[in-house]
Formats: sequence, structure tokens, C-alpha cells
Amino acid sequence: MASTDVLARVTALRREIERHNHAYYVLDAPTIPDAEYDRLFRELQAIEAGHPELVTPDSPTQRVGGKPLDTLPKVRHAVPMLSIRTETDTEASGARAFDARVRKELGLSDADPAVEYAAELKFDGLAINLRYENGVLVQAATRGDGETGEDVTQNIRTVKAIPLRLNAESPPAVLEVRGEVFMRRDDFERYNAKQREAGKPTLVNPRNGAAGSIRQLDPAIAAQRPLSFFAYGLGEVQGWNPPITHSETLDALAAMGVPVCAERVIGQGAAALIAFHDDIAARRDQLPFDIDGVVYKVNRLDLQRELGFVTREPRWAVAHKFPAQEQLTTVLGIEVQVGRTGALTPVARLAPVFVGGVTVTNATLHNQDEIDRKDVRVGDTVIVRRAGDVIPEVVAVVTERRPQPEPPRFSILQTWPVCPECGSHVMRLEGEAAVRCTGGLVCPAQRKQALLHFAGRRAMDIEGLGDKLVDQLVDRGLVRTPADLYGLTLEALAGLERMAEKSAANLLAAIETSKATTLARFIFALGIRNVGETTARDLAKHFGSLDRLIDATEAELLAVRDVGPIVAQSILQFFAEPHNLEVVKKLRAAGVRWPESEGLQQSAGILAGKTLVLTGTLPTLTRDAAKEKIEAAGGKVAGSVSKKTDYVVAGAEAGSKLVKAQELGVPILDEAGLLALLESDNENGQHALEF
Ligand code: IVH
Repeated sequence: MASTDVLARVTALRREIERHNHAYYVLDAPTIPDAEYDRLFRELQAIEAGHPELVTPDSPTQRVGGKPLDTLPKVRHAVPMLSIRTETDTEASGARAFDARVRKELGLSDADPAVEYAAELKFDGLAINLRYENGVLVQAATRGDGETGEDVTQNIRTVKAIPLRLNAESPPAVLEVRGEVFMRRDDFERYNAKQREAGKPTLVNPRNGAAGSIRQLDPAIAAQRPLSFFAYGLGEVQGWNPPITHSETLDALAAMGVPVCAERVIGQGAAALIAFHDDIAARRDQLPFDIDGVVYKVNRLDLQRELGFVTREPRWAVAHKFPAQEQLTTVLGIEVQVGRTGALTPVARLAPVFVGGVTVTNATLHNQDEIDRKDVRVGDTVIVRRAGDVIPEVVAVVTERRPQPEPPRFSILQTWPVCPECGSHVMRLEGEAAVRCTGGLVCPAQRKQALLHFAGRRAMDIEGLGDKLVDQLVDRGLVRTPADLYGLTLEALAGLERMAEKSAANLLAAIETSKATTLARFIFALGIRNVGETTARDLAKHFGSLDRLIDATEAELLAVRDVGPIVAQSILQFFAEPHNLEVVKKLRAAGVRWPESEGLQQSAGILAGKTLVLTGTLPTLTRDAAKEKIEAAGGKVAGSVSKKTDYVVAGAEAGSKLVKAQELGVPILDEAGLLALLESDNENGQHALEF
């Protein structure tokens, strides 16, 4: 490409990528599939790699690229960043008092018309000044003490909602946009869930998440945090005539691609402010992000100038705070709730506290890792957070206030070695965050879910047994385990709500019909953790009979296609619980039956329990074909070579895996060797599949 063409392409790509960024991060309306976006991004990266002289700071490829700093440099604000008077009264009288002050300062009498106000949300994040010179983002700074802030340009560049270049034909020479960096609640929850799963530290709340991400030294950290931004005002401006009103100014910023919150109104006099206040207060929990109140501003900029400032606060604006979403309280005890999947979720019982508009007495502690990380103990003073519809949460312990002598650390497993609901053993599998009840079918907490699963279309297929009915059956003590379904009578069903005789008869007929099933459906219906429909089918095919599955050892289970250590453990545990065996026995006694077969297990093949690794290109077999043959002979194909590998099958251009096999002394086969091995299997007549 000629250099002018390259430049044109680079410019077009940058425009297009930023347009998609804006659509995705600001408008929340993605315009193209992720894959297409990635393709554009990679094309731009490739061109820039070949033409480093074309890389500019406003290129979307340059959002993350800065190196960690030693300190955040100081920035002197061209125009001081002031704060606003904040009033905590939530009464309508606050808005009236503000309106009265404004009218008095402007010298208006009762006969004069109402003052026009702009009302908006008070975002709960970190105030930022974005400086655009000739349309390009050149600097971002925190508020600091209002006169001097910190240069956080590198971190701000990673926030995809913030444009690196303004969308304007002839941008102002200087335009400072002021606003708030914040984290949406769903982004915060998602980020924390991911961190929790990975055993990594979580963010305390969205506000700290936003502030902490921006006020730190490594832009790579900021880049991983899902941050958002809303503009609410201006700083220094050169070469631009702002519109007449504040609200039009925000509209103009939005047109330039700067994110502006849509949740704002213009209204006349105090009444409009009161209406906005009440509307937002009622909907606060449904907003996608935390706010700590509302802000009222005189809309006309000339009137703002006329009103001016007292000390460091404008006379033309006031904030009205809502009740706090975090409060201090004490932990009276820690209990567990058994969920539908058997997970034991620790819950802190709290001294009642009014937070986020409701009285909170419980807060989730998520899991043992979270308890350990926050080190929550009974008797501790803690910060409780309740925001939105999210369940209240203990965010941190005030350790200075821990009672003396110190209460012991809290362990779920030590406190509940058995399930509080059913008395089954409780355990924590390696690599899992949750402590779980092994009770399965007999645990009341899990029973309803287990029954619905058992009756499901792809399991025992009992038509008409839906959740309303299951709730009634379990709550009235008519059904405890799936086996009890087969003992239901017309009389028992007749007493249930919305159960006419006809539907009761239909249900009994459906239960009767379900008795004739298949082994695969039955295994699936048991609801063994990690055993889905496909695995159930594989197990049925492999073992042929339920008793052989029940008696299977770990090694035998591992020989089944796609059964790994986690699935094998789940199966072993399920059948190790006597009450699960009891339910199975009762189901069979009730007449649940299926055709049994020999299964494949004695004829699992010459590679049963063996692990093979494929590397390089084989002369005739494709990778999938080789894999299929190995699995048909009972073997497993793994991705990497270890001491546990039984054979490496190497073809042309085999690489590091072959070297590793040689180092470890793992036997190496070529394709002919593999085929010969499989052949010997057939000759021995071990393949029962054909019969
Ligand atoms: S206007 C001169 N509008 O609240 C007035 N501030 O003390 C400039 N804030 O830390 C501020 N939402 O970061 C304004 N819609 C909003 C706001 C807002 C949040 C923050 C701001 C500052 C504090 C005001």
C-alpha cells in the first residue's frame, strides 16, 4: 500500500473502532459481533507494527501500553475543582430552601417566574478532569485538594467509555470535561465473582473499586477493572462557546462522544426538583450503579456566573444525599444456608442496622475463602453494604474493634461437619470454593430441586410434576425422596390445591408410565453432581447395569469415555452415602426398571485406563480419527505429556511433546505401532461392541 493509503486505512480503522467502543461502552448497544471487532483491532495493530511512525496517542491500540509508575505526578488544575454543598435532609424542604436561596441571591420576587433547574444524579465514584487539546485526550487528573490533583492519564486511557479523541469536526483548542469515574454494580459483582472463584482479592465496593483502580501506579491493573464514566461539567475551555445552559452543555458533550447520564431532567422551580428527588429515591435500587444522592443546578450558565461561589462551593448547585448504603454493625453469629445445589453458604447474623433504606439482620459471607480473606469472626464489628437488589454483604471487618480476648477464626467445616438440614457429611472438593452437603436426594434443602430434576423430561419424564406441585408435596411431607412419588395415592393428591380428580389421576398415570425407563435416564435422574445427560449415557453404555456402576472403583470409572477425576469422585461419593443407596433400592422395589446389558466394561479395550498423547501429523489418520480409535479401545487422549502418560503417538514434525516423552522415558509409537496395538485388541476378541 502507498503510504497515503496506509494512513487513510489507519484513520478509518481508528474511527470505526472508537465508534464501536462508544456504541458498546457508552450507548450499551453493540453494533458488531466481538469477532468482527477483534478483526478490526488486529488489523490496526498489524499496520501500526509495520509503521511505528503512524502510532499516535489517540489510537485505540494505545489504551493500555504505559509502564507502571513510581508515583503519580502532581497536576495543577487550570480552573480549581470545587465541591458542592451537600445536604443530608431528604425532605422536600431541602429543595425549597435551595430555591429560596437562589431566588433571593438573584433578587427575584414572588411575582417573577420560576427558576429553571437541571437535576441530575450524584454519582458515587472518583471525580476526574479530562483535558482535551484540539480534540485529543492529553491529560486526566484527580480532584486532589481542588487546586492540585494527581496525573492519572495512563489509567484513564484504559477506560473504554472515555473517548481518546472527541468526535468533532473542529474541536476546541482546550476542553476540560469534568465527571465521575465509577463502576456499575453488575460489573462490580461480575468482577468480584471472578476474583472469588480464582481465590483472588475482591473489591470492597464499586466506589473503592473505581477510585482504587484509577489512583494506582500500574495501568495494566486499571485495564482489568470494568470502569465507566459520566461527565457533569466543564473545567478550562478555550476556542469554544458553550451553549446557554448546563443541560445543553451536557448534550453538546454527548454529541462529541463523551458519556453523559440520560437520567436527568430540566424543570421549573422547587416542585420539579422535589419530583425528581422522589422519583430517583424510589428507583435508586433499580439503577445500574450506586448513587449517593441527587444534584440540583441552576440551568442557565449566565445565572450560575451571577450567583458565583461562597468559600469553595457554588451558590448555584446543591447535593441532596440519600441514606448511606454502608453501615457499621456487629456479627452476632455465623450460620449456614443450604442451597439447592447443596452448597453451604455462610451467613452472618447481624445486630439490626438500617442500611440502604431497609433494616438488615443478615448478610452473606459467600464462602470459606471470603471468610478467611476478610477474617470475619463472631463478635466483630463489620461494615455492611446493601446496594440495589443485591443481598446485603459484609465488606470488611473493623479489626481495631475486635473484642478481647479475640474470638477464634471461623471454619465452616469445623462448625458443620455434617449438613444442618439432613445430617449428611459435608465436604469441600479440591479446587471448589463451596463446602457442600453430600446428602443429595435426602437433604430437604436439595429435595425439591432433586425431585424436579428426577421428574424432568430428559430424566424420568413424569408429565405434570411441576414446581408448584413439588413445593406442595414436599411442604406437606407427602414426598421426601423420589421413591415416595411411586407411593402417592389419589386420596393424598386430592387434598392438594388446584388438584382436580382428573389431574390427580393423570399424574398417577404419568408416574406409573415412568417406571419403564432406560438405565441412562435413570442414572441421569439421580442427579449425581457433574453427571449430565451425556455422561449418564456413557456410564450406562459402559457398565450396562446399575449394580456394576454402584460397585465401580475409581479406576474403572476413569476408564469411561470423558469421565475424569472430578466426575469419578462425584459418583463414588454419591453411592457411598447409605441414604442414596436406600432411595435407589426403594425405586427398584417400587417397580422402576430398565433393560440391562453386559455393558462394555469387561471389554473396555486394550487401552482401558491408559492415557495417550498425540503429537505431529500422522500419515493416514486425522487427529480426530486417531482420537476416536483410542477412545473406542478405552483409552484417553490428553493434551500434554507427563509421567502419567502411557504412550505418545508421534507423527511428522512432532515437537516438544516428543522431546518431553523421550526425557521421561514414555513409550513412543508411530501410527503403525498404534494401529498394531489396536489390532491386537480386536484379535484377542475383547471387543464386545460388535455382538
Ligand atoms: S457538580 C462546582 N455534579 O460530588 C460543582 N458533582 O462535591 C462541581 N459528583 O466530588 C460538581 N455527581 O465528583 C457535580 N452530577 C454531579 C455529580 C458530582 C457526583 C461529585 C463530584 C464531587 C462531589 C461534589
